[in-house]
Amino acid sequence: MTDVFSDRLAAWRDYTGSPWGRIRYAVAAEVLRRQAADLGQRLRVLDVGGGDAMDSLPLALAGHEVTVVDPSRAWLGEAERRAAESGTTLTTLEGGLDDLPRGEWDLVLCHFVLQYRAPGPDDVRRLARLVRPGGRLSLMAPNPTGRVLREVVQQGPAAALAELGRDTVDVVTFDTTVRKIGLEEAAAELAAAGLRVVGVYGSRVANDLIADNAAKADHFDDLLALELALCDREPFNRIGFSWHLVAERLSS
Ligand SMILES: C[S@@+](CC[C@H](N)C(=O)[O-])C[C@H]1O[C@@H](n2cnc3c(N)ncnc32)[C@H](O)[C@@H]1O
Repeated sequence: MTDVFSDRLAAWRDYTGSPWGRIRYAVAAEVLRRQAADLGQRLRVLDVGGGDAMDSLPLALAGHEVTVVDPSRAWLGEAERRAAESGTTLTTLEGGLDDLPRGEWDLVLCHFVLQYRAPGPDDVRRLARLVRPGGRLSLMAPNPTGRVLREVVQQGPAAALAELGRDTVDVVTFDTTVRKIGLEEAAAELAAAGLRVVGVYGSRVANDLIADNAAKADHFDDLLALELALCDREPFNRIGFSWHLVAERLSS
């Protein structure tokens, strides 16, 4: 995939600082905190395509041993800077899904990366091999279902119908186009790779059904509390901006 990422760190910062960006990361942090608690103390965590470590830094701060692998030196530099600023450390490795490190980890994350890759089960299979037996893989990507609902609210039914028929997504922050991956497709790839789904989550469930962006900032605390209450609750967990699956590698 082309490096559309390195030059766009400033746009990324705008996104991560927005109410909807903060919700996305706060919900993931809570989900990962619960998952880590199930797995034990001082876990070995690998964040593949972890970028500036928005998802794995909270795990490092909680005392886990975090390695971030990413092809972008600029993003890894940000990860290191953010870790130092927060008073913790993490290991960074230049690489990616085509040249993954060897080894086994308790918890492997791959969030918002697979949609930039070619379709097929290979990436999930590669990620599954990095998980120790009994360990977990956390996958996250934009949810095609959520996009349709968001279009109804923001642009109306004709736009939502058009969205339903599209199999790609335009990513404004990175000025690129990616493929859509449904939650069911990802779950099938996890099962084929020998993993059992133990958690189905979603984020920006309510956020994306509010057309008024200013209201999201005005009512942020209430909105975040609502998102945390909905993130693991059927069927809300399946209709947000993103799906988040956590799967356990079966002990052999
Ligand atoms: C949208 S960002 C997501 C960053 C982070 N995982 C998150 O959710 O906040 C996509 C990341 O994938 C990285 N990336 C690009 N090509 C990759 C590859 N072949 N393997 C792994 N990561 C890749 C980019 O450098 C970037 O950091």
